[in-house]
Amino acid sequence: MKKFSMLVNANDITGHIERGIYGHFSEHLGRCIYQGIYVGEDSPIPNIHGIRSDVVEAFRQIKMPVLRWPGGCFADEYHWRDGIGEKNSRTKVLNKSWGGVVEDNSFGTHEFMELCELVGCEPYIAGNVGSGTVRELAEWVEYMTSDDLSPTADLRRKNGREKAWKLKYLGIGNEAWGCGGNMTPEFYAGQYKQYRTFCRNFSGNQLYCIACGPSGADYNWTDVMMQNLKVNGWWQADGLSLHFYSVPEWNKKGLATEFSEDDYYELMNTVNYTDELLAVNIGIMDRYDPEGKVGLIVDEWGTWYDVEPGTNPAFLYQQNTMRDALVAAVSLNIFNRRSKRVKMANLAQAVNVLQALILTDGEKLIKTPTFHVFDLFKEHQDGECVYCHTQNENLREGKNVPMISSSASVRDGVLTVTIANCSLDESAEIECDICGFGAKSVSARTLTGEVHACNDFDAPERLVTTELEAKLENGKLRVTLPACSVSCITLK
Ligand code: AHR
Repeated sequence: MKKFSMLVNANDITGHIERGIYGHFSEHLGRCIYQGIYVGEDSPIPNIHGIRSDVVEAFRQIKMPVLRWPGGCFADEYHWRDGIGEKNSRTKVLNKSWGGVVEDNSFGTHEFMELCELVGCEPYIAGNVGSGTVRELAEWVEYMTSDDLSPTADLRRKNGREKAWKLKYLGIGNEAWGCGGNMTPEFYAGQYKQYRTFCRNFSGNQLYCIACGPSGADYNWTDVMMQNLKVNGWWQADGLSLHFYSVPEWNKKGLATEFSEDDYYELMNTVNYTDELLAVNIGIMDRYDPEGKVGLIVDEWGTWYDVEPGTNPAFLYQQNTMRDALVAAVSLNIFNRRSKRVKMANLAQAVNVLQALILTDGEKLIKTPTFHVFDLFKEHQDGECVYCHTQNENLREGKNVPMISSSASVRDGVLTVTIANCSLDESAEIECDICGFGAKSVSARTLTGEVHACNDFDAPERLVTTELEAKLENGKLRVTLPACSVSCITLK
């Protein structure tokens, strides 16, 4: 057992935690959309117009605030007109980004918008810049959002949707530096501005346009974009994206469930590096935009391992263990603490792909440890992030792996403190001073287990959250966190 002092100062607000920080990502990749989210109306699996009811319920449970779609790399090959109209006359194409499988376009704009309505989340559309045209994207926006005189809006009406949808988030291209066209930042910045000009606000809809930002530490990309995104004193983008996957070595990823202690600490070192990555990118953005008009949007993050044995390598299907839960908790605590500039983050990906919330097998569904972390952290959404500091201990010499990761927020008279104990073998006794908040009651929940433990189809509830004892003594919070755990402490 190790003892730690902690201080939470509710008077010191460090940022506003936009609910979008708890966002997600869904791509036409492997079994994310088909089988994962969408099974079609004729399926024996309970569904609403083809959308799995159990998935909708799970997304609602964690208060999913925003969902990005249709990719990823797939977005830059997606032609939205293929995915509208009568299902049996929709164009069938090959999914060239992910395994060359048949994409029958039965899940398109109407289905995605219905999914978001059922979940109660904002849709985030990633537009095709790589192989599309300005006209194609401009018309997609018009199709979705115009209630005015417009042949494109008429087409939507003809397809059964009279009233325009509201669309806030529009990504203009994906990974323009890679699968989105292998562009230079100078070239892409020009493309971005051209596309952005013609993606208009219709019928009271207000777009929040997101430009493609760097891959991890490509700081030059961030610099060039920020230099170019302001025209005649006006920012042309509301957000700049950042993609960063936690992978220690791309050619030696290993399986989600098979790793050594060293592999674990190596991965946690990479996850903690996210903070430096954000700090440097934010520093560059601050230089050009001290007022913080352009948000940093971490629209792809998470772990990336080798696929589960026997599964299609192009489908990126991996298991999810307590290691992933700790990755999620440390990452979300970092995003909270950087919420002055970080306005959205989307975990890759929601179902059956990479660090998934949910895994499905036919009609069966399991909630992964990562799902439970989002469930524990959901009360941070829309909160004010407040100062939270822990005396810490580094778990690996030469690496950056603090034992304790934490963040705190206040909303509607509730103080939420989330803490991960990243040690695999030592529990942590926390004594926390709380300033600026008169707590009268405390409750806590935790997710804990051996680091390789996971939920699977034979034991879907091996890992679930349980109550944790926490006490308030003379205004101090006392709680003991098990080794390898993620906890949420609620003070009222
Ligand atoms: O999430 C899988 C892929 O990773 C996405 O399609 C792409 O944007 C990124 O490289």
